[in-house]
Amino acid sequence: MLDSPTNTTSGGGAQLLEKLGPIESDSLLALIAAANADTRPTKIDVGVGVYRDGEGRTPILRALKAAELRLWETQETKSYLGGKGDVRFAELLRPWVLGHHAGDDRIMGLQTPGGCGALSLAFKLIAAANPGARVLVGTPTWPNHIPVIETAGLEIVRYGFYDRDSHRIRFDEMLTMLDGARAGDVVLLHGCCHNPTGADLDIDQWRDVTRVVAQRGLLPMVDLAYQGLGRGWHEDAEGIRLLLDACDEVIIAHSNDKNFGVYRDRVGSLWVKTARAATTKLAMDHVSQIARAMWSMPPDHGAAAIRLVLEDEALAADWQAELGEMRDRVNRVRSRIAEADPRLAYIGQQYGMFSMLPLEVSQVRALRDSDAIYMADSGRFNVLGMADRDIDRFIAAIVSVLGD
Ligand code: LMR
Repeated sequence: MLDSPTNTTSGGGAQLLEKLGPIESDSLLALIAAANADTRPTKIDVGVGVYRDGEGRTPILRALKAAELRLWETQETKSYLGGKGDVRFAELLRPWVLGHHAGDDRIMGLQTPGGCGALSLAFKLIAAANPGARVLVGTPTWPNHIPVIETAGLEIVRYGFYDRDSHRIRFDEMLTMLDGARAGDVVLLHGCCHNPTGADLDIDQWRDVTRVVAQRGLLPMVDLAYQGLGRGWHEDAEGIRLLLDACDEVIIAHSNDKNFGVYRDRVGSLWVKTARAATTKLAMDHVSQIARAMWSMPPDHGAAAIRLVLEDEALAADWQAELGEMRDRVNRVRSRIAEADPRLAYIGQQYGMFSMLPLEVSQVRALRDSDAIYMADSGRFNVLGMADRDIDRFIAAIVSVLGD
């Protein structure tokens, strides 16, 4: 009888991979898998950050579907495009990301595989310029920020950003941290729709952060993964505009995965500003070389479809209208949860897909076991994860677990 692959130990060649230690699986990917495997019809999946409509579906946006059809009809080859991917996509996206800074030739951008690809490139670029750079990261943050920064070999300095019990940004602590930072330190900021808390800086707080960042000679590195899902497309970038006004160097990791609903197609872009166009050009040459070693060239399909949307006025207007409908749903569901119980009122004042419930891991697990409600162990839940028919049941389960 043949040995099963798991107990085969003999044979030639290396035994190198036998040396691998056990590994804890990524918590979000494990959550996605657990929710997918649960067949209970009552399941409410508020774990992963994807938009769901009132029926509980994650639709392909109308404008994107039309663009994909057009792409299918007109695209004549799938030959390589080169390391920068779809250059026209980045040109068309530029004013959407940069607003009145779009004409600044000291800012350059290129297509990346999702926002995560942009983050990876950004931190590796920083490490190439200054391997000793420290990255100031507010806690909590998107869990994947940490391995991305560590993989680039940079030191992480954490500070408390949000208090889960009072539902407030620990702004004084944040400012004190930035004020005590060393020139050249990197500050990781969430452009809007903070993941995982939904607690965004207001415009006065952005002004304060910008002032300190500029005065202390810090490098702002902004993760802008949810533009358009918070207050509005341009409103969601107001903080970034302030940073671009005041700072010579700014890096933006942008994602279209959520605001175009192209999650699995992985569409992002990296934007770099330095004090001189020649320096930015050099930085982008470094970025291209780093990307070459990681994925060589980014995937095309999603970016090509978005290019077609952005170069067609009618499709772009329809995309913005549908994004507005998505934003309206976020705000409607937020209000409904906020009005249900005074302890949930803060959810109505937060933005984007996520908010956090002050739950213990045991309570999160109990919700999963008894109510088939899936959320992250941190208490983060996707406000948009539930269909309209599930909202009342979700609220009742939360209120019951919060107790009297
Ligand atoms: C999320 O936070 O749920 C999304 O950004 C998906 C991911 O990759 O973590």
